[in-house]
Amino acid sequence: MVDLNDAKSLRAIDSTDFLVSLTGLGAQCMKAYELTQGVALPKVQDVKAVVVTGLGGSAIGGDLLRVYSQERLSIPVIVNRDYTLPAFVDGNTLVFAVSYSGNTEETLSAYQDALEKGSAVVALTSGGKLKGLADRDGIPVIQVPVGLAPRAATGYLFIPMLAVLERLGMLHGLAGEVSEVTRELEGYADIYGPGTPVEKNPAKRLALDFEGRIPVIWGAGGTTDVAAQRWKGQINENAKAPAYWNVFPELNHNEIVGFEKPEELLRELWVVMLRDRGDHPRVGYRMEITRRIITGRVAGVTEVASAGDGMLARLYSLIYLGDWASVYLALLYGIDPGPVRVIDLLKGELAKR
Ligand code: PA5
Repeated sequence: MVDLNDAKSLRAIDSTDFLVSLTGLGAQCMKAYELTQGVALPKVQDVKAVVVTGLGGSAIGGDLLRVYSQERLSIPVIVNRDYTLPAFVDGNTLVFAVSYSGNTEETLSAYQDALEKGSAVVALTSGGKLKGLADRDGIPVIQVPVGLAPRAATGYLFIPMLAVLERLGMLHGLAGEVSEVTRELEGYADIYGPGTPVEKNPAKRLALDFEGRIPVIWGAGGTTDVAAQRWKGQINENAKAPAYWNVFPELNHNEIVGFEKPEELLRELWVVMLRDRGDHPRVGYRMEITRRIITGRVAGVTEVASAGDGMLARLYSLIYLGDWASVYLALLYGIDPGPVRVIDLLKGELAKR
């Protein structure tokens, strides 16, 4: 039985110091912004689309960029999680090839595809084959520090793309927003950190709600969808446990119908609804009605509203709470949050042929 108030025993399970990495996310965002300022920019004119290609912890930054840009860019931002790029990608597309390790085969393949399509490419990585290829091809590389789990490097794997777009004149005023993120996350690190007891720690309380249950995370399309996906992925990778996510309003047209049977399994679900002041007002109303429909059928429902002023701070406020909750869930299960042996096994098997 793990006691979430016993910080020493939590650290004993955490062999890769995931708790420490998480505590430093605020500072990481600022470092990520600063380290991009001196990097060479891609030669690009008349950008008609931005594509972020990556997988897992290296792709979620693409979704953050997609959501952040929704009301700020007049061109689409597409996230590609595959070996090849869509047919529209051409010389007017700016492609970010993102792989923390630099060795993920799908990303290396998509990188090659981007070059063949004549796109302007930027590599974002800590090293590996991607850095080697980009150096050989004369492609700008944003090199971030090694030694983190990719999903603990979400500052390094997102903020540099914003900084590049700002330097290209496509986004503006990011220094202030990044400062706000850093300041807010440093404040949350005290509240969510291992030193704060369960009674005062929303992340620990969420982990206790999730323990022994299946978390279902719902966000709103175009605002909190990325946070819902992130919470799900973090619970999977950190706690090694199942979790599911979906978005409003779409889930009101299918998933919500599936809350009648089997009753005993539905009682094992814990639903989280993520809200943001940028959600469409009708979506907020949908969430209220949906909550009424499922209350009593599931183990519980928690609503979490984003906090902060700018869009970046609001998105990170949600992501950060989910990150901490997923790590505490891992520790409650006696699971080491850092290593992802199944992913390593898959990559190892694939590397054989
Ligand atoms: O968080 C993780 O460890 C994974 O989701 C990885 O990010 C994913 O397997 C892709 O690897 P990389 O980020 O090194 O390209």
